[in-house]
Amino acid sequence: MPGLVLLGAQWGDEGKGKVTDYLAERASMVVRYQGGNNAGHTVVVGDEEFKLRLIPSGILYPETTCVIGNGVVIDPRVLLKELAYLHEKGVDTSKLRISERAHVIMPYHVLIDTLDEEAKGEQKIGTTKNGIGPCYMDKSARIGIRIADLMDKEEFAQRLQSVLAIKNNLLVKLYGVEAMDFEPLFEEYCGYAEQLRQYVTDTSLLIDNALKAGENVVFEGAQGTLLDLDHGTYPYVTSSNPIASSACVGAGVGPTNITQVLGIVKAYTTRVGEGPFPTELLEETGKALQTKGHEFGTVTGRARRCGWIDMVMLKYAIRLSGITAFALMKLDVLDELPTIKICTHYEMDGQRVEAFPTSLKKLGQCHPVYEELPGWQCDTSKATTFEELPVNAQKYISRIEELSGVPVKIVAVGPKRSETIIREDLL
Ligand code: GDP
Ligand code: IMO
Ligand code: MG
Repeated sequence: MPGLVLLGAQWGDEGKGKVTDYLAERASMVVRYQGGNNAGHTVVVGDEEFKLRLIPSGILYPETTCVIGNGVVIDPRVLLKELAYLHEKGVDTSKLRISERAHVIMPYHVLIDTLDEEAKGEQKIGTTKNGIGPCYMDKSARIGIRIADLMDKEEFAQRLQSVLAIKNNLLVKLYGVEAMDFEPLFEEYCGYAEQLRQYVTDTSLLIDNALKAGENVVFEGAQGTLLDLDHGTYPYVTSSNPIASSACVGAGVGPTNITQVLGIVKAYTTRVGEGPFPTELLEETGKALQTKGHEFGTVTGRARRCGWIDMVMLKYAIRLSGITAFALMKLDVLDELPTIKICTHYEMDGQRVEAFPTSLKKLGQCHPVYEELPGWQCDTSKATTFEELPVNAQKYISRIEELSGVPVKIVAVGPKRSETIIREDLL
Protein backbone atom coordinates (compact mmCIF):
# COMPACT_ATOMS: atom_id res chain seq x y z
CA MET A 1 0.00 0.00 0.00
CA PRO A 2 2.54 2.60 -1.00
CA GLY A 3 0.55 5.81 -0.75
CA LEU A 4 2.67 8.95 -0.63
CA VAL A 5 1.20 12.35 0.19
CA LEU A 6 3.10 15.34 -1.16
CA LEU A 7 2.14 18.72 0.26
CA GLY A 8 3.29 22.31 0.58
CA ALA A 9 4.83 23.01 3.98
CA GLN A 10 4.65 26.81 3.68
CA TRP A 11 2.27 29.22 1.87
CA GLY A 12 2.18 27.47 -1.49
CA ASP A 13 4.37 27.66 -4.61
CA GLU A 14 7.08 25.59 -2.96
CA GLY A 15 7.68 23.54 -6.10
CA LYS A 16 5.09 20.78 -5.62
CA GLY A 17 4.59 20.45 -9.38
CA LYS A 18 8.26 19.75 -10.02
CA VAL A 19 8.48 17.04 -7.34
CA THR A 20 5.19 15.44 -8.38
CA ASP A 21 6.48 15.23 -11.94
CA TYR A 22 9.65 13.55 -10.67
CA LEU A 23 7.76 11.00 -8.55
CA ALA A 24 5.16 10.36 -11.26
CA GLU A 25 7.68 8.40 -13.30
CA ARG A 26 7.54 5.67 -10.65
CA ALA A 27 3.87 6.00 -9.72
CA SER A 28 0.96 4.35 -11.43
CA MET A 29 -1.32 7.13 -10.25
CA VAL A 30 -1.20 10.79 -9.19
CA VAL A 31 -4.24 12.19 -7.38
CA ARG A 32 -5.10 15.83 -6.67
CA TYR A 33 -7.14 15.92 -3.45
CA GLN A 34 -8.16 19.54 -2.82
CA GLY A 35 -8.15 23.08 -4.16
CA GLY A 36 -8.94 24.05 -7.70
CA ASN A 37 -7.56 26.35 -10.35
CA ASN A 38 -6.24 28.67 -7.64
CA ALA A 39 -3.22 26.35 -7.90
CA GLY A 40 -0.48 26.92 -10.45
CA HIS A 41 2.02 24.07 -10.66
CA THR A 42 4.96 24.45 -13.03
CA VAL A 43 6.88 21.56 -14.52
CA VAL A 44 9.93 22.15 -16.70
CA VAL A 45 11.13 19.42 -19.03
CA GLY A 46 14.20 20.32 -21.06
CA ASP A 47 13.44 23.81 -22.30
CA GLU A 48 9.70 23.37 -22.26
CA GLU A 49 7.53 24.71 -19.45
CA PHE A 50 4.14 23.23 -18.52
CA LYS A 51 1.78 25.22 -16.32
CA LEU A 52 -0.90 23.14 -14.64
CA ARG A 53 -3.89 24.39 -12.67
CA LEU A 54 -6.25 21.45 -12.14
CA ILE A 55 -4.69 18.48 -13.85
CA PRO A 56 -2.24 16.54 -11.65
CA SER A 57 1.44 17.15 -12.40
CA GLY A 58 1.87 13.48 -13.38
CA ILE A 59 0.15 14.06 -16.73
CA LEU A 60 3.44 14.29 -18.63
CA TYR A 61 3.93 10.53 -18.18
CA PRO A 62 1.45 8.83 -20.54
CA GLU A 63 1.44 5.63 -18.48
CA THR A 64 0.46 7.40 -15.24
CA THR A 65 -3.23 7.70 -14.40
CA CYS A 66 -4.04 11.22 -13.21
CA VAL A 67 -7.02 11.67 -10.94
CA ILE A 68 -8.88 14.84 -10.01
CA GLY A 69 -10.32 13.71 -6.68
CA ASN A 70 -13.65 14.44 -5.04
CA GLY A 71 -12.07 17.08 -2.79
CA VAL A 72 -11.18 19.30 -5.75
CA VAL A 73 -13.48 22.04 -7.06
CA ILE A 74 -13.58 22.06 -10.86
CA ASP A 75 -14.22 24.95 -13.20
CA PRO A 76 -15.09 23.10 -16.43
CA ARG A 77 -14.09 26.07 -18.60
CA VAL A 78 -10.62 26.13 -17.05
CA LEU A 79 -10.27 22.36 -17.21
CA LEU A 80 -11.20 22.22 -20.90
CA LYS A 81 -8.76 25.04 -21.65
CA GLU A 82 -6.04 23.19 -19.79
CA LEU A 83 -6.77 20.01 -21.76
CA ALA A 84 -6.59 21.95 -25.04
CA TYR A 85 -3.30 23.55 -23.93
CA LEU A 86 -1.82 20.13 -23.17
CA HIS A 87 -3.07 18.65 -26.44
CA GLU A 88 -1.44 21.53 -28.30
CA LYS A 89 1.82 20.63 -26.61
CA GLY A 90 1.36 17.01 -27.70
CA VAL A 91 0.56 15.62 -24.24
CA ASP A 92 -1.59 12.49 -24.08
CA THR A 93 -4.40 13.09 -21.57
CA SER A 94 -6.31 9.85 -22.11
CA LYS A 95 -5.40 8.64 -18.61
CA LEU A 96 -7.07 11.57 -16.86
CA ARG A 97 -9.92 10.64 -14.53
CA ILE A 98 -12.37 13.00 -12.81
CA SER A 99 -14.30 12.19 -9.67
CA GLU A 100 -18.08 12.12 -9.96
CA ARG A 101 -18.17 13.61 -6.50
CA ALA A 102 -16.05 16.69 -7.18
CA HIS A 103 -17.95 19.99 -7.06
CA VAL A 104 -18.37 22.30 -10.04
CA ILE A 105 -17.33 25.95 -9.98
CA MET A 106 -20.12 27.92 -11.68
CA PRO A 107 -19.89 31.48 -13.07
CA TYR A 108 -21.80 32.85 -10.06
CA HIS A 109 -19.02 31.51 -7.79
CA VAL A 110 -16.40 33.43 -9.74
CA LEU A 111 -18.52 36.58 -9.75
CA ILE A 112 -19.27 36.38 -6.00
CA ASP A 113 -15.57 35.80 -5.21
CA THR A 114 -14.72 39.05 -7.03
CA LEU A 115 -17.61 41.03 -5.53
CA ASP A 116 -16.84 39.80 -2.00
CA GLU A 117 -13.20 40.80 -2.30
CA GLU A 118 -14.16 44.26 -3.56
CA ALA A 119 -16.66 44.67 -0.74
CA LYS A 120 -14.03 43.77 1.87
CA GLY A 121 -11.78 46.65 0.79
CA GLU A 122 -8.78 46.86 3.14
CA GLN A 123 -9.86 43.59 4.77
CA LYS A 124 -9.61 41.62 1.53
CA ILE A 125 -8.00 38.16 1.58
CA GLY A 126 -6.28 38.61 -1.76
CA THR A 127 -7.95 35.54 -3.27
CA THR A 128 -7.25 34.39 -6.80
CA LYS A 129 -10.87 35.37 -7.66
CA ASN A 130 -11.47 31.99 -9.22
CA GLY A 131 -14.60 31.19 -7.22
CA ILE A 132 -12.86 28.67 -4.97
CA GLY A 133 -14.27 29.94 -1.64
CA PRO A 134 -17.86 30.41 -2.89
CA CYS A 135 -17.86 26.91 -4.42
CA TYR A 136 -16.69 25.25 -1.18
CA MET A 137 -19.28 27.37 0.67
CA ASP A 138 -22.04 25.90 -1.47
CA LYS A 139 -20.65 22.40 -0.95
CA SER A 140 -20.94 22.88 2.83
CA ALA A 141 -24.33 24.54 2.50
CA ARG A 142 -25.47 21.52 0.46
CA ILE A 143 -26.43 23.59 -2.54
CA GLY A 144 -23.44 22.64 -4.67
CA ILE A 145 -23.50 20.96 -8.07
CA ARG A 146 -21.36 17.85 -8.37
CA ILE A 147 -19.81 16.44 -11.52
CA ALA A 148 -22.30 13.54 -11.26
CA ASP A 149 -25.18 16.06 -11.27
CA LEU A 150 -23.69 17.85 -14.26
CA MET A 151 -23.55 14.53 -16.15
CA ASP A 152 -27.30 13.94 -15.67
CA LYS A 153 -29.24 16.51 -17.71
CA GLU A 154 -32.48 16.20 -15.71
CA GLU A 155 -30.75 16.29 -12.36
CA PHE A 156 -28.61 19.23 -13.47
CA ALA A 157 -31.63 21.21 -14.69
CA GLN A 158 -33.39 20.69 -11.40
CA ARG A 159 -30.42 21.60 -9.24
CA LEU A 160 -29.42 24.59 -11.31
CA GLN A 161 -33.01 25.94 -11.23
CA SER A 162 -33.15 25.85 -7.46
CA VAL A 163 -29.60 27.10 -6.84
CA LEU A 164 -29.93 29.89 -9.37
CA ALA A 165 -33.06 31.16 -7.59
CA ILE A 166 -30.98 31.53 -4.41
CA LYS A 167 -28.00 33.05 -6.21
CA ASN A 168 -30.04 35.52 -8.24
CA ASN A 169 -31.73 36.71 -5.09
CA LEU A 170 -28.30 37.45 -3.64
CA LEU A 171 -26.86 38.92 -6.82
CA VAL A 172 -29.73 41.35 -7.35
CA LYS A 173 -30.75 42.25 -3.81
CA LEU A 174 -27.43 42.11 -1.97
CA TYR A 175 -24.77 42.79 -4.57
CA GLY A 176 -26.89 45.00 -6.85
CA VAL A 177 -25.82 43.27 -10.06
CA GLU A 178 -27.77 41.58 -12.83
CA ALA A 179 -29.39 38.18 -12.41
CA MET A 180 -28.08 35.21 -14.40
CA ASP A 181 -30.35 33.53 -16.95
CA PHE A 182 -30.99 29.84 -16.57
CA GLU A 183 -31.22 28.83 -20.23
CA PRO A 184 -27.84 29.96 -21.64
CA LEU A 185 -26.05 28.79 -18.50
CA PHE A 186 -27.73 25.39 -18.66
CA GLU A 187 -26.92 24.95 -22.35
CA GLU A 188 -23.31 26.04 -21.91
CA TYR A 189 -22.68 23.64 -19.04
CA CYS A 190 -24.46 20.73 -20.75
CA GLY A 191 -21.95 21.26 -23.55
CA TYR A 192 -19.04 21.05 -21.09
CA ALA A 193 -20.58 17.90 -19.60
CA GLU A 194 -20.40 16.15 -22.95
CA GLN A 195 -16.76 17.13 -23.45
CA LEU A 196 -15.79 15.87 -20.00
CA ARG A 197 -17.94 12.74 -19.79
CA GLN A 198 -15.22 10.39 -21.09
CA TYR A 199 -13.03 11.19 -18.06
CA VAL A 200 -15.65 10.92 -15.30
CA THR A 201 -15.77 7.90 -12.99
CA ASP A 202 -15.86 6.68 -9.39
CA THR A 203 -12.25 7.59 -8.64
CA SER A 204 -12.24 6.35 -5.03
CA LEU A 205 -12.77 2.84 -6.40
CA LEU A 206 -10.06 3.32 -9.00
CA ILE A 207 -7.52 4.47 -6.40
CA ASP A 208 -8.48 1.66 -4.04
CA ASN A 209 -7.84 -0.90 -6.78
CA ALA A 210 -4.39 0.56 -7.44
CA LEU A 211 -3.50 0.55 -3.75
CA LYS A 212 -4.76 -3.01 -3.34
CA ALA A 213 -2.58 -4.07 -6.27
CA GLY A 214 0.42 -2.62 -4.45
CA GLU A 215 0.95 0.16 -6.99
CA ASN A 216 2.52 3.50 -6.07
CA VAL A 217 -0.02 6.27 -5.65
CA VAL A 218 1.06 9.89 -5.15
CA PHE A 219 -1.44 12.30 -3.60
CA GLU A 220 -0.58 15.79 -4.82
CA GLY A 221 -1.58 18.68 -2.56
CA ALA A 222 -2.20 22.20 -3.76
CA GLN A 223 -1.57 25.43 -1.82
CA GLY A 224 0.29 24.92 1.47
CA THR A 225 -0.01 24.21 5.20
CA LEU A 226 -0.33 27.85 6.30
CA LEU A 227 -3.15 28.34 3.79
CA ASP A 228 -5.11 25.46 5.38
CA LEU A 229 -8.67 26.43 6.24
CA ASP A 230 -8.43 24.96 9.76
CA HIS A 231 -4.76 25.31 10.61
CA GLY A 232 -3.47 28.20 8.50
CA THR A 233 -3.32 31.93 9.17
CA TYR A 234 -7.11 32.28 9.22
CA PRO A 235 -8.83 34.22 7.67
CA TYR A 236 -5.93 34.67 5.23
CA VAL A 237 -6.24 31.12 3.98
CA THR A 238 -7.82 29.17 1.15
CA SER A 239 -11.14 27.35 1.55
CA SER A 240 -9.84 23.77 1.61
CA ASN A 241 -7.38 21.67 3.63
CA PRO A 242 -3.98 21.17 1.98
CA ILE A 243 -2.58 19.19 4.97
CA ALA A 244 -1.85 15.47 4.55
CA SER A 245 -4.90 14.03 6.31
CA SER A 246 -7.09 15.83 3.82
CA ALA A 247 -5.74 13.52 1.10
CA CYS A 248 -7.87 10.72 2.53
CA VAL A 249 -11.07 12.76 2.46
CA GLY A 250 -10.32 14.38 -0.87
CA ALA A 251 -9.45 11.12 -2.62
CA GLY A 252 -11.80 8.73 -0.81
CA VAL A 253 -9.22 6.39 0.75
CA GLY A 254 -8.49 5.31 4.31
CA PRO A 255 -5.55 6.75 6.32
CA THR A 256 -3.88 3.34 6.62
CA ASN A 257 -2.99 3.61 2.92
CA ILE A 258 -0.64 6.53 3.53
CA THR A 259 2.88 5.32 4.22
CA GLN A 260 4.95 8.45 3.47
CA VAL A 261 4.37 12.18 3.77
CA LEU A 262 6.69 14.40 1.78
CA GLY A 263 6.77 18.07 2.78
CA ILE A 264 7.80 20.40 -0.04
CA VAL A 265 9.81 23.31 1.37
CA LYS A 266 11.31 26.27 -0.41
CA ALA A 267 14.84 27.07 0.81
CA TYR A 268 13.35 30.43 1.84
CA THR A 269 9.70 31.47 2.29
CA THR A 270 7.19 33.16 -0.01
CA ARG A 271 3.59 34.25 0.27
CA VAL A 272 1.06 35.64 -2.24
CA GLY A 273 -1.87 37.71 -1.04
CA GLU A 274 -2.56 39.32 2.31
CA GLY A 275 -1.86 38.14 5.86
CA PRO A 276 0.99 37.97 8.39
CA PHE A 277 4.48 36.74 7.48
CA PRO A 278 6.96 36.86 10.42
CA THR A 279 10.19 36.35 8.45
CA GLU A 280 9.25 38.63 5.54
CA LEU A 281 12.13 40.66 4.10
CA LEU A 282 10.97 44.08 3.04
CA GLU A 283 14.43 45.28 2.03
CA GLU A 284 17.03 44.42 -0.64
CA THR A 285 17.46 40.74 0.24
CA GLY A 286 13.72 40.18 -0.21
CA LYS A 287 13.89 41.85 -3.63
CA ALA A 288 16.95 39.78 -4.53
CA LEU A 289 15.10 36.53 -3.69
CA GLN A 290 12.07 37.71 -5.66
CA THR A 291 14.17 38.50 -8.73
CA LYS A 292 16.45 35.47 -8.69
CA GLY A 293 13.58 33.12 -7.78
CA HIS A 294 11.18 34.64 -10.36
CA GLU A 295 8.69 34.96 -7.55
CA PHE A 296 5.66 36.09 -9.50
CA GLY A 297 2.46 34.05 -9.31
CA THR A 298 1.52 31.82 -12.25
CA VAL A 299 -2.20 32.29 -11.59
CA THR A 300 -2.54 36.02 -10.93
CA GLY A 301 0.91 37.36 -11.88
CA ARG A 302 1.19 39.04 -8.46
CA ALA A 303 4.64 39.45 -6.92
CA ARG A 304 5.26 36.92 -4.14
CA ARG A 305 6.43 38.35 -0.82
CA CYS A 306 9.78 36.80 0.20
CA GLY A 307 11.55 36.04 3.49
CA TRP A 308 13.85 33.64 5.34
CA ILE A 309 13.04 30.02 6.11
CA ASP A 310 11.02 29.68 9.31
CA MET A 311 11.47 26.64 11.56
CA VAL A 312 8.51 27.54 13.81
CA MET A 313 6.34 27.25 10.73
CA LEU A 314 8.03 24.09 9.45
CA LYS A 315 7.75 22.33 12.82
CA TYR A 316 4.05 23.21 12.81
CA ALA A 317 3.73 21.75 9.31
CA ILE A 318 5.53 18.56 10.45
CA ARG A 319 3.12 18.23 13.39
CA LEU A 320 -0.02 18.81 11.32
CA SER A 321 0.84 16.41 8.51
CA GLY A 322 3.19 13.88 10.09
CA ILE A 323 5.84 14.78 7.52
CA THR A 324 8.40 11.97 7.14
CA ALA A 325 10.76 13.65 4.63
CA PHE A 326 11.41 17.04 3.07
CA ALA A 327 12.15 18.08 -0.49
CA LEU A 328 14.13 21.33 -0.25
CA MET A 329 13.48 23.43 -3.32
CA LYS A 330 15.14 26.39 -5.05
CA LEU A 331 18.42 26.13 -3.14
CA ASP A 332 20.10 27.77 -6.16
CA VAL A 333 18.18 30.99 -5.47
CA LEU A 334 20.36 31.48 -2.37
CA ASP A 335 23.61 31.01 -4.34
CA GLU A 336 24.75 34.63 -4.31
CA LEU A 337 23.93 35.60 -0.74
CA PRO A 338 26.89 36.28 1.61
CA THR A 339 24.95 35.02 4.64
CA ILE A 340 21.70 33.12 5.09
CA LYS A 341 19.36 33.20 8.06
CA ILE A 342 17.20 30.50 9.61
CA CYS A 343 14.45 31.55 12.00
CA THR A 344 14.78 29.11 14.92
CA HIS A 345 12.02 30.53 17.15
CA TYR A 346 10.04 33.69 17.82
CA GLU A 347 10.14 36.09 20.75
CA MET A 348 7.12 37.91 22.13
CA ASP A 349 7.31 40.25 25.15
CA GLY A 350 10.70 38.79 26.03
CA GLN A 351 9.27 35.23 26.02
CA ARG A 352 10.48 32.44 23.72
CA VAL A 353 7.73 31.21 21.36
CA GLU A 354 8.21 27.75 19.81
CA ALA A 355 4.65 26.92 18.72
CA PHE A 356 3.05 28.73 15.81
CA PRO A 357 0.42 31.06 17.39
CA THR A 358 -3.27 30.80 16.51
CA SER A 359 -4.04 34.46 17.06
CA LEU A 360 -2.95 36.68 14.20
CA LYS A 361 -2.58 39.52 16.70
CA LYS A 362 -0.04 37.45 18.67
CA LEU A 363 1.66 36.32 15.48
CA GLY A 364 2.00 39.97 14.50
CA GLN A 365 3.74 40.66 17.83
CA CYS A 366 6.22 37.80 17.39
CA HIS A 367 9.77 38.71 16.39
CA PRO A 368 11.74 36.09 14.53
CA VAL A 369 15.01 35.06 16.15
CA TYR A 370 17.65 34.06 13.60
CA GLU A 371 20.68 31.90 13.36
CA GLU A 372 23.02 33.24 10.69
CA LEU A 373 24.97 30.87 8.47
CA PRO A 374 27.66 31.70 5.93
CA GLY A 375 26.53 31.59 2.30
CA TRP A 376 28.38 29.66 -0.43
CA GLN A 377 28.44 32.30 -3.17
CA CYS A 378 28.88 29.89 -6.05
CA ASP A 379 26.66 28.10 -8.55
CA THR A 380 24.86 25.02 -7.22
CA SER A 381 22.76 24.32 -10.31
CA LYS A 382 25.20 21.78 -11.77
CA ALA A 383 25.41 19.63 -8.62
CA THR A 384 23.97 16.16 -9.06
CA THR A 385 24.81 14.75 -5.63
CA PHE A 386 24.78 16.14 -2.10
CA GLU A 387 28.57 15.84 -1.97
CA GLU A 388 28.94 18.02 -5.05
CA LEU A 389 27.20 20.90 -3.29
CA PRO A 390 29.46 23.53 -1.69
CA VAL A 391 30.21 22.71 1.97
CA ASN A 392 28.23 25.71 3.26
CA ALA A 393 25.17 24.61 1.28
CA GLN A 394 25.54 21.12 2.78
CA LYS A 395 25.74 22.73 6.23
CA TYR A 396 22.60 24.77 5.57
CA ILE A 397 20.68 21.61 4.64
CA SER A 398 22.06 19.64 7.59
CA ARG A 399 21.09 22.44 9.96
CA ILE A 400 17.50 22.36 8.67
CA GLU A 401 17.48 18.61 9.26
CA GLU A 402 18.87 19.02 12.78
CA LEU A 403 16.41 21.72 13.77
CA SER A 404 13.39 19.94 12.27
CA GLY A 405 14.27 16.31 12.93
CA VAL A 406 13.16 15.49 9.37
CA PRO A 407 15.54 14.23 6.66
CA VAL A 408 15.89 16.26 3.47
CA LYS A 409 15.67 13.50 0.86
CA ILE A 410 15.39 15.66 -2.26
CA VAL A 411 17.23 18.91 -3.03
CA ALA A 412 16.27 20.99 -6.07
CA VAL A 413 18.84 23.30 -7.64
CA GLY A 414 16.92 24.50 -10.69
CA PRO A 415 13.47 24.28 -12.31
CA LYS A 416 14.35 21.47 -14.74
CA ARG A 417 13.76 17.78 -14.15
CA SER A 418 17.50 17.23 -14.38
CA GLU A 419 18.28 19.82 -11.71
CA THR A 420 17.30 17.56 -8.86
CA ILE A 421 19.46 15.80 -6.26
CA ILE A 422 17.93 12.59 -4.98
CA ARG A 423 19.52 11.59 -1.67
CA GLU A 424 17.18 8.65 -1.17
CA ASP A 425 14.58 7.10 -3.47
CA LEU A 426 11.06 7.53 -2.12
CA LEU A 427 9.24 5.16 -4.47
P1 GDP B 1 3.92 24.77 -6.84
O1 GDP B 1 2.68 25.59 -6.88
O2 GDP B 1 4.27 24.32 -5.46
O3 GDP B 1 3.91 23.64 -7.82
O4 GDP B 1 5.10 25.76 -7.27
P2 GDP B 1 5.07 26.76 -8.52
O5 GDP B 1 5.22 25.97 -9.76
O6 GDP B 1 3.92 27.69 -8.42
O7 GDP B 1 6.35 27.65 -8.21
C1 GDP B 1 7.62 27.11 -8.17
C2 GDP B 1 8.45 27.78 -9.28
O8 GDP B 1 9.82 27.54 -9.06
C3 GDP B 1 8.17 27.23 -10.67
O9 GDP B 1 8.32 28.25 -11.61
C4 GDP B 1 9.23 26.15 -10.86
O10 GDP B 1 9.59 25.94 -12.22
C5 GDP B 1 10.38 26.78 -10.12
N1 GDP B 1 11.29 25.83 -9.46
C6 GDP B 1 11.01 24.64 -8.88
N2 GDP B 1 12.10 24.12 -8.30
C7 GDP B 1 13.10 25.01 -8.52
C8 GDP B 1 14.47 25.06 -8.13
O11 GDP B 1 14.99 24.21 -7.47
N3 GDP B 1 15.17 26.17 -8.54
C9 GDP B 1 14.62 27.17 -9.27
N4 GDP B 1 15.39 28.20 -9.59
N5 GDP B 1 13.34 27.16 -9.64
C10 GDP B 1 12.59 26.10 -9.26
P1 IMO C 1 -0.22 26.46 -5.38
O1 IMO C 1 -0.91 25.12 -5.43
C1 IMO C 1 0.06 30.33 -3.36
C2 IMO C 1 -3.69 32.05 -1.82
C3 IMO C 1 -4.22 33.30 -2.50
C4 IMO C 1 -4.90 33.97 -1.31
C5 IMO C 1 -5.48 32.79 -0.56
C6 IMO C 1 -6.95 32.52 -0.83
O2 IMO C 1 0.23 26.95 -6.70
O3 IMO C 1 0.82 26.47 -4.33
P2 IMO C 1 -8.23 31.46 -2.92
O4 IMO C 1 -8.31 31.89 -4.34
O5 IMO C 1 -7.68 30.09 -2.71
O6 IMO C 1 -9.52 31.65 -2.18
O7 IMO C 1 -7.19 32.50 -2.24
O8 IMO C 1 -4.71 31.66 -0.93
N1 IMO C 1 -3.43 30.91 -2.74
C7 IMO C 1 -2.21 30.50 -3.11
N2 IMO C 1 -0.99 31.01 -2.84
N3 IMO C 1 -0.06 29.21 -4.08
C8 IMO C 1 -1.28 28.67 -4.34
O9 IMO C 1 -1.42 27.48 -4.96
C9 IMO C 1 -2.42 29.34 -3.88
N4 IMO C 1 -3.74 29.11 -3.97
C10 IMO C 1 -4.34 30.07 -3.27
O10 IMO C 1 -3.18 34.08 -3.02
O11 IMO C 1 -3.94 34.57 -0.48
MG1 MG D 1 2.01 27.48 -7.52
